[in-house]
Amino acid sequence: MTDRPILNVWGAEHQYGDRKVLRGVDLTVHPGEIYALLGPNGAGKSTLVGAICGRFKLTGGEVALDGQDPFVTASARARLGLVPQEIALYGHMTVRENLEVFGRLSGVMRCDLAPAVASAMQLTRTADREHVPVRHLSGGYRRRVNIAAAILHRPQLLILDEPTVGVDIDAREALDTVIRNLRDTGVAVLIVTHDLDQAGALADRVGFLREGRKVLEGVPRRLIEQAFGQEMEILVQMHLEPDMDGESILAAEGLERRKGNLWARLDLDGYNAAAQLDRRLRGLGLIPREIRVRAPSLQNLFSLVADWSRAA
Ligand SMILES: Nc1ncnc2c1ncn2[C@@H]1O[C@H](COP(=O)(O)OP(=O)(O)OP(=O)(O)O)[C@@H](O)[C@H]1O
Ligand SMILES: [Mg+2]
Repeated sequence: MTDRPILNVWGAEHQYGDRKVLRGVDLTVHPGEIYALLGPNGAGKSTLVGAICGRFKLTGGEVALDGQDPFVTASARARLGLVPQEIALYGHMTVRENLEVFGRLSGVMRCDLAPAVASAMQLTRTADREHVPVRHLSGGYRRRVNIAAAILHRPQLLILDEPTVGVDIDAREALDTVIRNLRDTGVAVLIVTHDLDQAGALADRVGFLREGRKVLEGVPRRLIEQAFGQEMEILVQMHLEPDMDGESILAAEGLERRKGNLWARLDLDGYNAAAQLDRRLRGLGLIPREIRVRAPSLQNLFSLVADWSRAA
């Protein structure tokens, strides 16, 4: 990562009608850095991305891509590649044919096209499918070809809006590897995601947007340390869906429902507390299928930030 940002956003404000969607957001992303923009639905993430792509003029503040305003200057827009959430490829055409079309569309000169396509396929690990029609590819491959299509003109900033919606774990890991490889070639990556596991695994820095404001930003590990210190997260997976009594017992133990039958809480005395919890629950006839103790994650941080907003 270098010191000079490729992307600068100063005091971004935007409103639709009289509705304020961005209320003064600053953002920098550096070459060779992966920045994950997080936040609940409606926080303003896609609006910010739209402004960075120069799709509209902000009602306040400024965006600069390598010093130039992408709304005004086409050469600034050419410095970025956008990977849309939907797969934007021609199903009947092969991977190579798609990339040739997208290369031409993004302004790659004819004489540069073959090496650009080869390098995009290599970076996204799709070369082994170059002659396969896109409609025959698995979802994970399609996502990677979608990325390949966005990097043919060698952008300095790559933006991905929700790249892992509907992607299974293996495909996601392959996608993460591709994103890391790009970062390691010096590309700046801005990724908008609801997938906190992915953000935690990938991001050099994260920013939380809430109601049009950036409320927290930093290196994931450090933010987690600052927020939770030595606390550990205890995860309790129940065998059976607890009934109302069971739920109130779990709640009285300080556990909150995560998803499905998974309950969680934080504790300074992680492993001991987990053992005692297991004993107490069994004593009350609630049999955990599994209890895990692990360091807190971005998920915990996200819940914490959401609680601030409820308290506010
Ligand atoms: N073109 C538009 N006209 C009017 N309101 C809009 C428009 N686009 C977005 N909004 C509103 O602006 C707010 C922010 O939307 P935005 O899409 O930026 O949020 P987001 O953080 O990307 O959310 P999500 O996680 O759901 O994608 C929302 O309340 C949305 O309804
Ligand atoms: Mg969005």
